[in-house]
Amino acid sequence: MIVATNRAELSDARVKMAGTVAVVMTMGALHDGHEALIRAAAERADRVLVTIFVNPLQFGPNEDFDRYPRTLDADLAVCARNGVDVVFTPTREEMYPHGEPSIRVSPGPLGDILEGASRPGFFNGVLTVVLKLLHLTRPDLAFFGEKDYQQLTLVRRMARDTDLPVRIVGVPTVREADGLARSSRNRYLDPAQRRAAVALSAALAAGAGATGGPDAVLAAARAALGTEVELDYLALTDPELGPAPASGPARLLIAARVGSTRLIDNTALEIA
Ligand code: PAF
Repeated sequence: MIVATNRAELSDARVKMAGTVAVVMTMGALHDGHEALIRAAAERADRVLVTIFVNPLQFGPNEDFDRYPRTLDADLAVCARNGVDVVFTPTREEMYPHGEPSIRVSPGPLGDILEGASRPGFFNGVLTVVLKLLHLTRPDLAFFGEKDYQQLTLVRRMARDTDLPVRIVGVPTVREADGLARSSRNRYLDPAQRRAAVALSAALAAGAGATGGPDAVLAAARAALGTEVELDYLALTDPELGPAPASGPARLLIAARVGSTRLIDNTALEIA
């Protein structure tokens, strides 16, 4: 496995990658969810390239950029164990050699709802770094988790709207035995918070199992949520994050705080 820390090393490694190349973009602190992305990438491509970069552009001033877990040695072991060919671990200066970029990707109206409403500028920061990493790694395929469903939707849309020569592939969320979605932020939870955090996936499951139209879905989810987590949003949309249909395929998305940790989750469902 080659570990490239700068553009020159990445470019050397990239030209030697034969066949179809898949990229998995991460901020490190790799867990089973990332391993599922890497395995899905390895199934579909000849070579797999993983990027590890905690992107300052997508953190707000009061968010967890400084305390975001950085576990590079363990991350490299995960990559090696999963047969990754190349890992790109740039520094902040390597990614943004001219300081914070003034030209950025605007996510459009979808960037202002849900996560974007709670985290102004978040998707501008995400799409800007994703576009840069796509240019630097030039993959045929790029894998993103459904756990960050709005991010996946916006990355797909950026690829579509700007004709990026890459296929964006979504990978189902990996969950703990009790339903909690795997997330690097789960490691902030103390044992009591960890137990309370199951409320998010429980609410989604209750909503997905409800019958009686959109209102019944939301009512069932809210009832199952309980009072131990502080709800940020619970939203029912169509699969593209537009207005919820009266029936048929939809998406139910949730964000809530457990203590000072903000968690998100979502599920596909059929409104019946
Ligand atoms: O999902 C993430 O970990 C990040 O948002 C990404 C896609 C690596 C961009 O920094």
